[in-house]
Amino acid sequence: MNNMDKFIIHGGKPLIGSVNVSGAKNAAVAIVAATILSDEPCTLENVPEISDISIALRILYEMGAGIRIIDKNTMRIDPRGISNPVVPYELARSMRASSYFLGTLLGRFKKADVPMPGGCDLGDRPIDQHIKAFNCLGASCAIDGGIVSLRADELIGSQIYFDINTVGGTINAIFAAVKAKGLTVIENAAKEPHIVDLANFLNTMGADIMGAGTDVIKIRGVSVLKGVDYAIIPDQIEAGTYMVAAAATKGNVWINNVIPKHLESITAKLRKVGASVEEYDESIHVHADGPLLSTSLKTLPHPGFPTDMQPQFSTMLTVSEGTSVVTDDIFDNRFRYVSELRRMGANIKVEGTTAIIQGIPQLTGASVRATDLRAGAALVIAGLMASGTTVVENIFHIDRGYENFDDKLKGLGADIRRVADYEPKRRVI
Ligand code: EPZ
Repeated sequence: MNNMDKFIIHGGKPLIGSVNVSGAKNAAVAIVAATILSDEPCTLENVPEISDISIALRILYEMGAGIRIIDKNTMRIDPRGISNPVVPYELARSMRASSYFLGTLLGRFKKADVPMPGGCDLGDRPIDQHIKAFNCLGASCAIDGGIVSLRADELIGSQIYFDINTVGGTINAIFAAVKAKGLTVIENAAKEPHIVDLANFLNTMGADIMGAGTDVIKIRGVSVLKGVDYAIIPDQIEAGTYMVAAAATKGNVWINNVIPKHLESITAKLRKVGASVEEYDESIHVHADGPLLSTSLKTLPHPGFPTDMQPQFSTMLTVSEGTSVVTDDIFDNRFRYVSELRRMGANIKVEGTTAIIQGIPQLTGASVRATDLRAGAALVIAGLMASGTTVVENIFHIDRGYENFDDKLKGLGADIRRVADYEPKRRVI
Protein backbone atom coordinates (compact mmCIF):
# COMPACT_ATOMS: atom_id res chain seq x y z
CA MET A 1 0.00 0.00 0.00
CA ASN A 2 1.22 3.49 -0.65
CA ASN A 3 -0.23 6.96 -0.68
CA MET A 4 -0.47 7.15 -4.42
CA ASP A 5 -2.20 3.80 -5.09
CA LYS A 6 -5.42 3.90 -7.08
CA PHE A 7 -8.18 1.50 -8.04
CA ILE A 8 -9.12 0.76 -11.63
CA ILE A 9 -12.63 -0.62 -11.89
CA HIS A 10 -14.45 -2.04 -14.91
CA GLY A 11 -18.06 -1.69 -13.79
CA GLY A 12 -21.49 -2.94 -14.70
CA LYS A 13 -21.22 -6.42 -13.16
CA PRO A 14 -23.46 -7.56 -10.28
CA LEU A 15 -21.66 -8.59 -7.09
CA ILE A 16 -22.36 -12.25 -6.34
CA GLY A 17 -21.12 -14.53 -3.54
CA SER A 18 -20.23 -14.12 0.12
CA VAL A 19 -17.95 -11.81 2.06
CA ASN A 20 -16.66 -11.85 5.64
CA VAL A 21 -16.81 -8.63 7.60
CA SER A 22 -13.74 -7.61 9.65
CA GLY A 23 -13.59 -6.19 13.17
CA ALA A 24 -15.04 -2.71 13.70
CA LYS A 25 -12.58 0.14 13.01
CA ASN A 26 -14.23 2.57 15.38
CA ALA A 27 -14.34 0.03 18.23
CA ALA A 28 -10.79 -1.15 17.56
CA VAL A 29 -9.18 2.31 17.56
CA ALA A 30 -10.80 2.99 20.95
CA ILE A 31 -9.94 -0.41 22.43
CA VAL A 32 -6.31 -0.33 21.24
CA ALA A 33 -5.95 3.08 22.96
CA ALA A 34 -7.76 1.70 26.05
CA THR A 35 -5.03 -0.88 26.65
CA ILE A 36 -3.02 2.02 28.16
CA LEU A 37 -5.38 1.84 31.15
CA SER A 38 -4.50 -1.79 31.83
CA ASP A 39 -2.04 -2.86 34.51
CA GLU A 40 -1.22 -6.00 32.53
CA PRO A 41 -0.82 -7.05 28.87
CA CYS A 42 -4.00 -7.54 26.79
CA THR A 43 -4.59 -9.72 23.72
CA LEU A 44 -6.95 -8.29 21.13
CA GLU A 45 -8.59 -10.45 18.46
CA ASN A 46 -10.58 -9.58 15.34
CA VAL A 47 -8.65 -6.31 14.99
CA PRO A 48 -9.03 -5.05 11.40
CA GLU A 49 -5.84 -4.82 9.35
CA ILE A 50 -6.22 -1.15 8.35
CA SER A 51 -3.89 1.82 8.41
CA ASP A 52 -5.69 3.62 11.28
CA ILE A 53 -4.84 0.62 13.50
CA SER A 54 -1.23 0.61 12.32
CA ILE A 55 -0.99 4.26 13.37
CA ALA A 56 -2.60 3.61 16.77
CA LEU A 57 -0.17 0.72 17.40
CA ARG A 58 2.76 2.87 16.28
CA ILE A 59 1.72 5.58 18.76
CA LEU A 60 1.66 3.00 21.59
CA TYR A 61 5.03 1.61 20.50
CA GLU A 62 6.65 5.06 20.29
CA MET A 63 5.46 5.79 23.85
CA GLY A 64 7.10 2.57 25.11
CA ALA A 65 4.40 -0.14 24.90
CA GLY A 66 5.36 -3.68 23.87
CA ILE A 67 3.46 -4.88 20.80
CA ARG A 68 3.49 -8.50 19.63
CA ILE A 69 1.66 -9.25 16.39
CA ILE A 70 0.33 -12.80 16.73
CA ASP A 71 -1.37 -12.83 13.34
CA LYS A 72 -2.71 -10.08 11.10
CA ASN A 73 -5.85 -9.64 13.23
CA THR A 74 -4.52 -10.60 16.68
CA MET A 75 -2.02 -8.76 18.83
CA ARG A 76 -0.74 -8.62 22.37
CA ILE A 77 -0.21 -5.16 23.80
CA ASP A 78 1.85 -4.63 26.95
CA PRO A 79 1.34 -1.03 28.14
CA ARG A 80 3.56 -1.34 31.21
CA GLY A 81 6.60 0.16 29.45
CA ILE A 82 4.88 3.46 28.70
CA SER A 83 6.62 6.13 30.73
CA ASN A 84 6.21 9.29 28.69
CA PRO A 85 2.56 10.29 28.09
CA VAL A 86 3.33 12.32 24.96
CA VAL A 87 1.88 11.36 21.55
CA PRO A 88 4.24 12.03 18.59
CA TYR A 89 3.03 14.94 16.43
CA GLU A 90 3.04 13.41 12.94
CA LEU A 91 1.27 10.23 14.05
CA ALA A 92 -1.50 12.11 15.86
CA ARG A 93 -2.07 14.39 12.88
CA SER A 94 -2.85 11.44 10.64
CA MET A 95 -5.83 10.06 12.57
CA ARG A 96 -8.89 11.47 14.32
CA ALA A 97 -8.96 8.77 16.98
CA SER A 98 -5.61 10.00 18.31
CA SER A 99 -7.84 12.11 20.59
CA TYR A 100 -8.49 8.86 22.51
CA PHE A 101 -4.95 9.07 23.87
CA LEU A 102 -6.07 12.19 25.76
CA GLY A 103 -8.54 10.21 27.87
CA THR A 104 -6.44 7.08 28.30
CA LEU A 105 -3.19 8.88 29.19
CA LEU A 106 -5.07 11.20 31.55
CA GLY A 107 -6.74 8.18 33.19
CA ARG A 108 -3.45 6.39 33.78
CA PHE A 109 -0.87 9.20 34.27
CA LYS A 110 -3.12 12.15 35.24
CA LYS A 111 -1.37 14.00 32.44
CA ALA A 112 -1.36 13.90 28.64
CA ASP A 113 0.21 15.85 25.77
CA VAL A 114 -1.49 15.07 22.48
CA PRO A 115 -1.38 17.05 19.22
CA MET A 116 -4.80 18.19 17.95
CA PRO A 117 -6.17 15.14 16.10
CA GLY A 118 -6.28 14.83 12.29
CA GLY A 119 -8.25 12.22 10.32
CA CYS A 120 -11.08 12.54 7.79
CA ASP A 121 -11.70 16.08 6.61
CA LEU A 122 -15.41 16.37 7.33
CA GLY A 123 -15.28 20.07 8.17
CA ASP A 124 -14.52 21.60 11.53
CA ARG A 125 -14.12 18.86 14.14
CA PRO A 126 -13.86 20.56 17.56
CA ILE A 127 -13.04 18.71 20.81
CA ASP A 128 -14.65 21.21 23.20
CA GLN A 129 -16.97 18.53 24.63
CA HIS A 130 -14.03 16.20 25.32
CA ILE A 131 -12.33 19.03 27.21
CA LYS A 132 -15.53 19.83 29.08
CA ALA A 133 -15.64 16.22 30.29
CA PHE A 134 -11.99 16.29 31.43
CA ASN A 135 -12.62 19.60 33.24
CA CYS A 136 -15.66 18.11 35.02
CA LEU A 137 -13.42 15.31 36.33
CA GLY A 138 -10.89 17.80 37.69
CA ALA A 139 -8.31 18.13 34.88
CA SER A 140 -7.01 21.43 33.54
CA CYS A 141 -6.48 21.86 29.83
CA ALA A 142 -4.17 24.13 27.84
CA ILE A 143 -3.74 24.24 24.07
CA ASP A 144 -0.41 25.63 22.91
CA GLY A 145 1.32 25.23 19.56
CA GLY A 146 -1.28 22.71 18.43
CA ILE A 147 -0.69 20.46 21.46
CA VAL A 148 -3.49 19.69 23.91
CA SER A 149 -2.06 19.34 27.44
CA LEU A 150 -4.11 17.89 30.28
CA ARG A 151 -3.05 17.89 33.92
CA ALA A 152 -4.78 16.70 37.10
CA ASP A 153 -3.63 16.08 40.68
CA GLU A 154 -6.41 13.53 40.90
CA LEU A 155 -9.52 12.73 38.91
CA ILE A 156 -12.78 12.89 40.86
CA GLY A 157 -16.04 11.35 39.61
CA SER A 158 -18.62 13.93 38.56
CA GLN A 159 -21.70 14.61 36.45
CA ILE A 160 -20.98 15.26 32.76
CA TYR A 161 -23.74 16.56 30.52
CA PHE A 162 -22.89 16.65 26.81
CA ASP A 163 -24.42 19.60 24.92
CA ILE A 164 -24.36 17.57 21.71
CA ASN A 165 -24.28 13.88 20.93
CA THR A 166 -20.59 13.01 20.57
CA VAL A 167 -19.11 9.55 20.07
CA GLY A 168 -15.52 10.63 20.71
CA GLY A 169 -16.47 12.83 23.67
CA THR A 170 -18.40 9.96 25.29
CA ILE A 171 -15.47 7.57 24.80
CA ASN A 172 -12.94 10.02 26.24
CA ALA A 173 -15.18 10.70 29.24
CA ILE A 174 -15.38 6.94 29.88
CA PHE A 175 -11.59 6.62 29.68
CA ALA A 176 -10.95 9.30 32.28
CA ALA A 177 -13.85 8.25 34.53
CA VAL A 178 -12.87 4.57 34.85
CA LYS A 179 -9.78 5.65 36.81
CA ALA A 180 -11.41 8.59 38.67
CA LYS A 181 -12.37 8.39 42.36
CA GLY A 182 -16.08 7.75 42.91
CA LEU A 183 -19.08 7.92 40.63
CA THR A 184 -19.32 9.64 37.23
CA VAL A 185 -22.65 10.03 35.45
CA ILE A 186 -22.51 10.85 31.73
CA GLU A 187 -25.76 12.28 30.39
CA ASN A 188 -26.74 12.63 26.72
CA ALA A 189 -24.12 9.96 26.01
CA ALA A 190 -23.68 8.54 22.50
CA LYS A 191 -25.13 5.03 22.03
CA GLU A 192 -23.15 3.63 19.07
CA PRO A 193 -22.33 -0.13 19.11
CA HIS A 194 -18.63 0.63 19.52
CA ILE A 195 -19.34 2.44 22.80
CA VAL A 196 -20.99 -0.73 24.11
CA ASP A 197 -18.04 -2.80 22.86
CA LEU A 198 -15.55 -0.50 24.59
CA ALA A 199 -17.54 -0.66 27.85
CA ASN A 200 -17.63 -4.48 27.60
CA PHE A 201 -13.86 -4.54 27.10
CA LEU A 202 -13.22 -2.28 30.10
CA ASN A 203 -15.72 -4.16 32.29
CA THR A 204 -13.96 -7.44 31.41
CA MET A 205 -10.79 -5.80 32.74
CA GLY A 206 -12.52 -4.97 36.01
CA ALA A 207 -14.10 -1.56 35.33
CA ASP A 208 -17.56 -0.77 36.65
CA ILE A 209 -19.52 0.81 33.76
CA MET A 210 -23.30 0.59 33.56
CA GLY A 211 -25.73 1.85 30.93
CA ALA A 212 -23.49 1.84 27.82
CA GLY A 213 -25.83 1.82 24.82
CA THR A 214 -28.29 4.16 26.59
CA ASP A 215 -27.98 7.90 26.97
CA VAL A 216 -27.01 7.72 30.65
CA ILE A 217 -23.76 5.92 31.50
CA LYS A 218 -22.70 5.44 35.13
CA ILE A 219 -19.09 4.69 35.96
CA ARG A 220 -17.63 3.90 39.35
CA GLY A 221 -13.88 4.43 39.23
CA VAL A 222 -11.46 1.56 40.05
CA SER A 223 -7.74 1.66 40.77
CA VAL A 224 -6.65 -1.51 38.96
CA LEU A 225 -7.57 -2.94 35.55
CA LYS A 226 -6.32 -6.41 34.70
CA GLY A 227 -5.13 -7.80 31.36
CA VAL A 228 -7.69 -9.69 29.24
CA ASP A 229 -8.19 -11.47 25.91
CA TYR A 230 -10.92 -9.69 23.96
CA ALA A 231 -12.43 -9.98 20.45
CA ILE A 232 -13.65 -6.80 18.73
CA ILE A 233 -17.23 -6.70 17.34
CA PRO A 234 -17.86 -6.85 13.56
CA ASP A 235 -17.77 -3.56 11.65
CA GLN A 236 -21.28 -2.17 11.21
CA ILE A 237 -20.20 0.28 8.49
CA GLU A 238 -18.10 -2.19 6.52
CA ALA A 239 -21.09 -4.58 6.56
CA GLY A 240 -23.43 -1.77 5.49
CA THR A 241 -21.06 -0.84 2.66
CA TYR A 242 -21.22 -4.39 1.22
CA MET A 243 -25.01 -4.43 1.69
CA VAL A 244 -25.35 -1.26 -0.35
CA ALA A 245 -22.79 -2.42 -2.94
CA ALA A 246 -24.82 -5.61 -3.39
CA ALA A 247 -28.09 -3.73 -3.96
CA ALA A 248 -26.48 -1.01 -6.09
CA THR A 249 -25.01 -3.55 -8.53
CA LYS A 250 -28.25 -5.61 -8.61
CA GLY A 251 -26.25 -8.38 -7.00
CA ASN A 252 -26.82 -11.31 -4.67
CA VAL A 253 -24.48 -11.29 -1.66
CA TRP A 254 -24.20 -13.04 1.71
CA ILE A 255 -22.50 -10.79 4.23
CA ASN A 256 -21.10 -12.94 7.05
CA ASN A 257 -19.79 -12.22 10.56
CA VAL A 258 -22.25 -9.40 11.28
CA ILE A 259 -24.57 -8.41 14.14
CA PRO A 260 -27.88 -7.85 12.24
CA LYS A 261 -29.27 -5.72 15.10
CA HIS A 262 -26.53 -3.10 14.44
CA LEU A 263 -27.62 -2.94 10.79
CA GLU A 264 -31.36 -2.37 11.28
CA SER A 265 -31.48 1.23 10.02
CA ILE A 266 -29.56 0.25 6.87
CA THR A 267 -31.69 -2.86 6.34
CA ALA A 268 -34.90 -0.82 6.63
CA LYS A 269 -33.72 1.76 4.07
CA LEU A 270 -32.53 -0.89 1.62
CA ARG A 271 -35.94 -2.57 1.78
CA LYS A 272 -37.52 0.83 1.12
CA VAL A 273 -35.61 1.17 -2.16
CA GLY A 274 -36.75 -2.29 -3.27
CA ALA A 275 -33.84 -4.57 -2.29
CA SER A 276 -34.51 -7.86 -0.55
CA VAL A 277 -32.70 -8.16 2.80
CA GLU A 278 -32.89 -11.32 4.90
CA GLU A 279 -31.41 -11.44 8.40
CA TYR A 280 -29.86 -14.55 9.93
CA ASP A 281 -28.03 -15.04 13.26
CA GLU A 282 -24.65 -13.76 12.04
CA SER A 283 -25.30 -13.09 8.35
CA ILE A 284 -27.31 -10.85 6.11
CA HIS A 285 -28.40 -11.81 2.59
CA VAL A 286 -29.00 -8.93 0.17
CA HIS A 287 -30.23 -9.23 -3.37
CA ALA A 288 -31.81 -6.88 -5.84
CA ASP A 289 -33.02 -7.48 -9.37
CA GLY A 290 -35.82 -5.00 -10.06
CA PRO A 291 -35.48 -1.23 -10.39
CA LEU A 292 -34.23 0.70 -7.34
CA LEU A 293 -36.67 3.25 -5.92
CA SER A 294 -35.89 6.71 -4.61
CA THR A 295 -36.22 7.52 -0.91
CA SER A 296 -35.63 10.28 1.59
CA LEU A 297 -33.01 9.93 4.27
CA LYS A 298 -31.74 11.83 7.29
CA THR A 299 -28.67 10.75 9.21
CA LEU A 300 -28.94 10.54 13.00
CA PRO A 301 -26.89 9.20 15.91
CA HIS A 302 -27.38 5.47 16.62
CA PRO A 303 -29.91 3.83 16.30
CA GLY A 304 -30.68 6.24 13.43
CA PHE A 305 -29.19 5.96 9.96
CA PRO A 306 -25.39 6.44 10.35
CA THR A 307 -23.61 9.39 8.73
CA ASP A 308 -20.81 6.94 7.90
CA MET A 309 -23.21 5.18 5.47
CA GLN A 310 -24.59 8.33 3.83
CA PRO A 311 -22.12 8.65 0.92
CA GLN A 312 -22.48 4.98 -0.08
CA PHE A 313 -26.30 5.07 0.12
CA SER A 314 -26.58 8.41 -1.71
CA THR A 315 -24.37 6.99 -4.46
CA MET A 316 -26.78 4.10 -4.93
CA LEU A 317 -29.68 6.57 -5.11
CA THR A 318 -28.11 8.28 -8.15
CA VAL A 319 -29.56 5.46 -10.29
CA SER A 320 -32.90 5.06 -8.48
CA GLU A 321 -36.23 5.92 -10.09
CA GLY A 322 -37.33 9.44 -9.08
CA THR A 323 -35.99 12.06 -6.71
CA SER A 324 -34.33 11.40 -3.34
CA VAL A 325 -33.63 13.95 -0.63
CA VAL A 326 -30.72 13.18 1.73
CA THR A 327 -29.95 15.32 4.77
CA ASP A 328 -26.71 14.87 6.71
CA ASP A 329 -25.92 17.59 9.23
CA ILE A 330 -23.82 15.60 11.71
CA PHE A 331 -20.68 17.11 10.13
CA ASP A 332 -20.69 20.21 7.92
CA ASN A 333 -18.73 18.69 5.06
CA ARG A 334 -20.04 15.28 4.19
CA PHE A 335 -21.04 15.94 0.57
CA ARG A 336 -17.59 16.62 -0.84
CA TYR A 337 -17.77 13.45 -2.95
CA VAL A 338 -20.76 14.83 -4.89
CA SER A 339 -18.65 16.80 -7.35
CA GLU A 340 -16.75 13.57 -8.10
CA LEU A 341 -20.03 11.70 -8.72
CA ARG A 342 -21.11 14.45 -11.10
CA ARG A 343 -18.11 13.56 -13.28
CA MET A 344 -19.76 10.15 -13.64
CA GLY A 345 -23.02 11.73 -14.78
CA ALA A 346 -24.89 11.85 -11.44
CA ASN A 347 -27.56 14.52 -11.14
CA ILE A 348 -27.17 15.84 -7.57
CA LYS A 349 -27.74 19.30 -6.20
CA VAL A 350 -26.42 20.15 -2.73
CA GLU A 351 -28.05 22.88 -0.69
CA GLY A 352 -26.34 23.29 2.68
CA THR A 353 -26.52 19.92 4.38
CA THR A 354 -29.11 18.46 2.00
CA ALA A 355 -28.55 16.68 -1.32
CA ILE A 356 -31.31 16.41 -3.89
CA ILE A 357 -30.66 13.42 -6.11
CA GLN A 358 -32.47 13.00 -9.42
CA GLY A 359 -32.08 9.38 -10.50
CA ILE A 360 -30.58 8.58 -13.92
CA PRO A 361 -30.46 5.17 -15.68
CA GLN A 362 -26.70 4.56 -15.25
CA LEU A 363 -23.45 6.23 -14.20
CA THR A 364 -20.55 6.31 -16.65
CA GLY A 365 -16.94 5.56 -15.69
CA ALA A 366 -14.59 8.49 -15.06
CA SER A 367 -11.47 9.42 -13.13
CA VAL A 368 -12.42 10.46 -9.58
CA ARG A 369 -10.66 11.21 -6.30
CA ALA A 370 -11.55 9.93 -2.81
CA THR A 371 -12.02 12.91 -0.49
CA ASP A 372 -12.34 10.89 2.73
CA LEU A 373 -12.83 7.30 3.90
CA ARG A 374 -16.56 6.76 3.29
CA ALA A 375 -16.54 9.00 0.21
CA GLY A 376 -13.83 6.71 -1.15
CA ALA A 377 -15.97 3.62 -0.53
CA ALA A 378 -18.90 5.38 -2.21
CA LEU A 379 -16.82 6.14 -5.31
CA VAL A 380 -15.78 2.50 -5.55
CA ILE A 381 -19.48 1.52 -5.42
CA ALA A 382 -20.11 4.12 -8.15
CA GLY A 383 -17.37 2.51 -10.25
CA LEU A 384 -18.90 -0.94 -9.76
CA MET A 385 -22.32 0.37 -10.89
CA ALA A 386 -21.04 2.42 -13.83
CA SER A 387 -20.54 1.45 -17.44
CA GLY A 388 -16.94 1.56 -18.62
CA THR A 389 -13.80 2.22 -16.58
CA THR A 390 -13.54 4.22 -13.35
CA VAL A 391 -10.27 5.22 -11.75
CA VAL A 392 -10.46 6.06 -8.02
CA GLU A 393 -7.45 8.03 -6.79
CA ASN A 394 -6.31 8.81 -3.23
CA ILE A 395 -7.35 5.37 -1.99
CA PHE A 396 -5.15 5.73 1.08
CA HIS A 397 -8.35 7.16 2.59
CA ILE A 398 -10.07 3.80 1.96
CA ASP A 399 -7.13 1.83 3.39
CA ARG A 400 -7.62 3.73 6.67
CA GLY A 401 -10.84 1.85 7.36
CA TYR A 402 -11.55 -1.10 5.02
CA GLU A 403 -9.52 -4.30 5.34
CA ASN A 404 -8.63 -5.73 1.89
CA PHE A 405 -11.45 -3.81 0.20
CA ASP A 406 -10.30 -4.68 -3.32
CA ASP A 407 -9.66 -8.37 -2.53
CA LYS A 408 -13.03 -8.77 -0.81
CA LEU A 409 -14.77 -7.17 -3.80
CA LYS A 410 -12.82 -9.38 -6.21
CA GLY A 411 -14.12 -12.36 -4.23
CA LEU A 412 -17.62 -11.15 -5.15
CA GLY A 413 -16.72 -11.05 -8.85
CA ALA A 414 -15.83 -7.35 -9.14
CA ASP A 415 -13.31 -6.31 -11.77
CA ILE A 416 -11.16 -4.06 -9.55
CA ARG A 417 -7.39 -3.68 -9.60
CA ARG A 418 -5.02 -1.74 -7.32
CA VAL A 419 -2.18 -0.05 -9.13
CA ALA A 420 0.71 1.93 -7.74
CA ASP A 421 0.64 5.42 -9.18
CA TYR A 422 4.26 6.46 -9.25
CA GLU A 423 6.36 8.54 -11.58
CA PRO A 424 8.99 6.26 -13.12
CA LYS A 425 12.46 7.73 -12.59
CA ARG A 426 14.15 8.86 -15.80
CA ARG A 427 17.33 6.89 -16.50
CA VAL A 428 20.38 9.07 -16.71
CA ILE A 429 22.97 7.50 -18.98
C1 EPZ B 1 -16.95 9.28 15.31
O1 EPZ B 1 -16.29 10.51 15.09
C2 EPZ B 1 -16.46 8.34 14.25
N1 EPZ B 1 -15.02 8.18 14.38
C3 EPZ B 1 -16.83 8.87 12.88
O2 EPZ B 1 -16.46 7.86 11.96
C4 EPZ B 1 -18.33 9.09 12.80
O3 EPZ B 1 -18.65 9.71 11.58
C5 EPZ B 1 -18.81 9.96 13.96
O4 EPZ B 1 -18.36 9.41 15.22
C6 EPZ B 1 -20.33 10.10 14.03
O5 EPZ B 1 -20.90 8.84 14.15
C7 EPZ B 1 -14.53 7.33 15.26
O6 EPZ B 1 -15.25 6.63 15.97
C8 EPZ B 1 -13.05 7.20 15.33
P1 EPZ B 1 -18.64 12.96 17.10
P2 EPZ B 1 -16.27 11.63 16.22
O7 EPZ B 1 -17.83 13.46 18.23
O8 EPZ B 1 -16.15 10.96 17.52
C9 EPZ B 1 -19.43 17.68 16.92
C10 EPZ B 1 -15.72 7.06 9.85
O9 EPZ B 1 -15.96 7.27 8.64
N2 EPZ B 1 -18.53 17.79 18.08
O10 EPZ B 1 -19.80 12.07 17.42
O11 EPZ B 1 -15.25 12.62 15.82
C11 EPZ B 1 -18.71 17.25 15.66
O12 EPZ B 1 -18.06 18.34 15.05
C12 EPZ B 1 -15.71 8.20 10.82
O13 EPZ B 1 -15.46 5.94 10.33
C13 EPZ B 1 -18.37 19.03 18.71
O14 EPZ B 1 -18.96 20.04 18.30
O15 EPZ B 1 -17.72 12.25 16.01
C14 EPZ B 1 -19.82 16.66 14.87
O16 EPZ B 1 -20.53 17.71 14.24
C15 EPZ B 1 -15.43 9.52 10.31
N3 EPZ B 1 -17.55 19.09 19.80
C16 EPZ B 1 -20.71 16.02 15.93
O17 EPZ B 1 -20.35 16.64 17.15
C17 EPZ B 1 -16.90 18.01 20.30
O18 EPZ B 1 -16.17 18.15 21.29
C18 EPZ B 1 -20.53 14.50 16.10
O19 EPZ B 1 -19.16 14.21 16.27
C19 EPZ B 1 -17.07 16.77 19.66
C20 EPZ B 1 -17.89 16.67 18.54
